Amino acid sequence: MQNKYKGKVVIVTGSRQGIGKSIAWLYASQGAKVVLNARNAEKLEHTKQEFDEAGFEVIAVAGDVSSWNFCVDLCQKAKEHFGGIDIVITNAAIATRGDMENLSPEIYQKLINVNILGSVYPAKAAIPYLKQSKGSIQFISSIASYYGIPFNGIYCATKNAINSIAEATHNELKPHNIFVGVTYVGFTENEDSKQILDTDGKVIVLPQRNNVQKQNRNTVAQRIIAQIEQKKFKNTLTLSGKVLRVLTKFVPGLIRFIYKLNLKKIELSSK
Ligand SMILES: NC(=O)c1ccc[n+]([C@@H]2O[C@H](COP(=O)([O-])OP(=O)(O)OC[C@H]3O[C@@H](n4cnc5c(N)ncnc54)[C@H](OP(=O)(O)O)[C@@H]3O)[C@@H](O)[C@H]2O)c1
Repeated sequence: MQNKYKGKVVIVTGSRQGIGKSIAWLYASQGAKVVLNARNAEKLEHTKQEFDEAGFEVIAVAGDVSSWNFCVDLCQKAKEHFGGIDIVITNAAIATRGDMENLSPEIYQKLINVNILGSVYPAKAAIPYLKQSKGSIQFISSIASYYGIPFNGIYCATKNAINSIAEATHNELKPHNIFVGVTYVGFTENEDSKQILDTDGKVIVLPQRNNVQKQNRNTVAQRIIAQIEQKKFKNTLTLSGKVLRVLTKFVPGLIRFIYKLNLKKIELSSK
């Protein structure tokens, strides 16, 4: 068990904290060589030290996954240090809150850049290496992609785009023996330091959501790793996620009605 992933090289984008760090930790604790990534080099180095102290084999490559050149470099560094790439998990993403009228155009662009291009670019840059290793790409989506949640539209839209990209590449890359999967992550316990972009673009710390049942980050990481292991294309996490999936498919009018009833509450909680 301890060495289940010995010899495997795993890139986890956005892994200095949160779900990405939990995924990286689980792989590293089972013998994988892990490439950590985030934009904040200082905080990323701090995370790397924790892995080093545990005796894990990791490198840290700081940079922004919405840059194509950076993603090429990220994959080259994985190859140089560890000899190849077996698994890429495109976990890095940002969130925001606010309605269309007030959310700034720059925030729309930023979410498209980070959440869509920042998932496509590392996956695309890794394809030549994954062809050799017959490896895997795991996209990280959200149950928020099942329905356009008021005051959260652009986040939902970017995760919806990830679902389509995952579907397309799953079939495109199958003949090359590359597995592509997508996880629809549900409400998860946030890091206390989790940041989002406020309506005006200011970076703020997201208050803990106490009105919803949240999954533990370690459990989320376990589910994602098991999904890749089982080569299961799509997985929806949490009971509320599964209920939302069924309702949006069979009774979308009911979901519209529920959001209409709760609009004011959602607006207040997004402030
Ligand atoms: N938490 C939830 O309840 C939840 C629910 C559904 C889906 N998800 C999805 O799960 C994933 C992880 O969420 P989380 O809550 O664990 O996030 P988080 O705590 O906010 O951490 C995000 C990580 O991504 C990094 N990052 C952000 N932008 C980046 C960029 N442009 N380039 C490289 N790294 C970047 C951050 O570090 P830097 O700031 O230093 O770059 C950080 O390490 C995301 O895809 C999210 O959409 C989360």
